[in-house]
Amino acid sequence: QKNTLLAPSILSADFTKLAASIEIAEKAGADWLHCDVMDGHFVPNITFGPFIVKAIAGCSNLTIDTHLMISDPDSYIPDFISAGSHQVTVHQETCPHLHRSVQLIKSLGAKAGVSINPGTPVSTLESILPDLDLVLLMSVNPGFGGQKFIPSSLGKVEQLHTMRNNLNPEMIIAVDGGVTVDNAQDLVTAGADALIAGTAFFKAENPEEAAAKIKSASR
Ligand code: DX5
Ligand code: ZN
Repeated sequence: QKNTLLAPSILSADFTKLAASIEIAEKAGADWLHCDVMDGHFVPNITFGPFIVKAIAGCSNLTIDTHLMISDPDSYIPDFISAGSHQVTVHQETCPHLHRSVQLIKSLGAKAGVSINPGTPVSTLESILPDLDLVLLMSVNPGFGGQKFIPSSLGKVEQLHTMRNNLNPEMIIAVDGGVTVDNAQDLVTAGADALIAGTAFFKAENPEEAAAKIKSASR
């Protein structure tokens, strides 16, 4: 029985109080800090770049988990790793040479993840799976926090779980988008190891309680 990893998404934090928000996450027992990088091109929103990731990494001991929702991620991977990212996740949809992107991340000393959108089949990950440290399965269309969980994602988690057990048992399955205290257990039962939570954590009345509930999901 494994404990569920919790990764609060800094996107839903109060950006005028970043250090305090990070402290809330640390005190609540978060495992990773999820940094959502958006470019207004691959996704219809713009967030922040390596400069902010560096500021976040500089005031936290947690694993910095950077989610690149950007076109041409290869050009920016080195900057995000020197900014302090321990894990870098690229989107399958943005990488024509996915294997090369994954090797680039690893060659710079970070863990490598690949994310897929709700409309992208799990089967597209089959060839790259043995090389990955994590898969970030999107359960909303990326671009914004606070969206509703897409129910068909649950079946994709199950599918990925089977594939993972066959091809790369050490690989982590993370789920991102619309995660709540109420769907956390179903996601973990389906095969999720790590849950990203923006709204459900930072906008909770009691983030510590929300974190405890999400982390108590087990398989
Ligand atoms: C969506 C981002 C998510 C998002 C999660 O584009 O990748 O990480 O911030 O936020 P919630 O938990 O509010 O759906
Ligand atoms: Zn994300």
